[in-house]
Amino acid sequence: MTAQSPKISLTRYLVEQQRVDGRIPSDLRLLLEVVARACKSISHAVNKGALGGVLGTAGSENVQGEVQKQLDIIANDVLIEANEWGGHLAAMASEEMDSIHVVPNRYPQGEYLLLFDPLDGSSNIDVNVSIGTIFSVLRKPEGSAPAVSEQDFLQCGARQVAAGYCVYGPQTTLVLTVGDGVAMFTLDREQGSFVLTQENVRIPEDTKEFAINMSNMRHWDAPVRRYVDECLAGQEGPRGKDFNMRWVASMVADVHRILTRGGIFLYPWDKREPDKPGKLRLMYEANPMAWLVEQAGGAASTGRQRILDIEPAKLHERVSVILGSKNEVERVAAYHSR
Ligand code: AHG
Ligand code: MN
Ligand code: MN
Repeated sequence: MTAQSPKISLTRYLVEQQRVDGRIPSDLRLLLEVVARACKSISHAVNKGALGGVLGTAGSENVQGEVQKQLDIIANDVLIEANEWGGHLAAMASEEMDSIHVVPNRYPQGEYLLLFDPLDGSSNIDVNVSIGTIFSVLRKPEGSAPAVSEQDFLQCGARQVAAGYCVYGPQTTLVLTVGDGVAMFTLDREQGSFVLTQENVRIPEDTKEFAINMSNMRHWDAPVRRYVDECLAGQEGPRGKDFNMRWVASMVADVHRILTRGGIFLYPWDKREPDKPGKLRLMYEANPMAWLVEQAGGAASTGRQRILDIEPAKLHERVSVILGSKNEVERVAAYHSR
């Protein structure tokens, strides 16, 4: 009989990343621990649902003009409160806040910037479908003014030092990259800790599964339409194989499926609001997901450009998103350049 190998907690994983490989400084380790703790507490609130009185709308709108759900606000508050006193952060930015939240004077200021979508998939909260939290960590640029400003956040996704999400589904799973591949941690509710359940996550380069909101088909641009038409044509069509389709309407859940078994996710620019570059937000939705997907061997593009290369002009900038299995993303990008 072989002895069972010990469970590796998120804490141990991060300590080893710091100690063995010097990959993350201690401040970043602390920051990630705090984000994970906040996600644990959001997970508890999500689990309580109606019993905790957390469902329904809050009766307010965010800066993007979207109706805020109670859980959007609860999750945002949890992340702010957990992160502002530790001394590792200079400021935070969130989908639910118009402008940046600078760490108050009463606390020490660190060198990191944290961005998050506190609750992704808001339309799924009340119907008990998977939702999540997405986060991205940047470093305050060297040589920037001591007083942190929105300008400090406007860095391309390639400069992220950590990124991840936590999906609140049948299991609560935290998925993380610090630039050395992707690791997944499942919340052990009895122990109250995240346990490493998969390392070196890889997305297969080919897939037979796509994810897009088909109700927008009439608004799509020609290259996206061509790609989906070819998938729908199945075995008899130019692709010579049948495709399956999934759309959870929570990006976290759709990306989690892609990291688990492959696939392609598209939320492209469309003609509904031609002046908007897309629906999803670059800095706290597209960038962290794009880095995770690239770290797992996939690709992430707007159709015309690698997402991680985009120089943001504003905090709440939107972007067209096509990500997942490499060969499929490259195919869609090729259709855009013809
Ligand atoms: P959020 O709940 O943070 O506003 O994000 C929702 C996003 C994303 O998670 C999902 O892929 C997409 O909106 C769903 O949009 P549709 O309702 O247009 O399908
Ligand atoms: Mn979102
Ligand atoms: Mn959100």
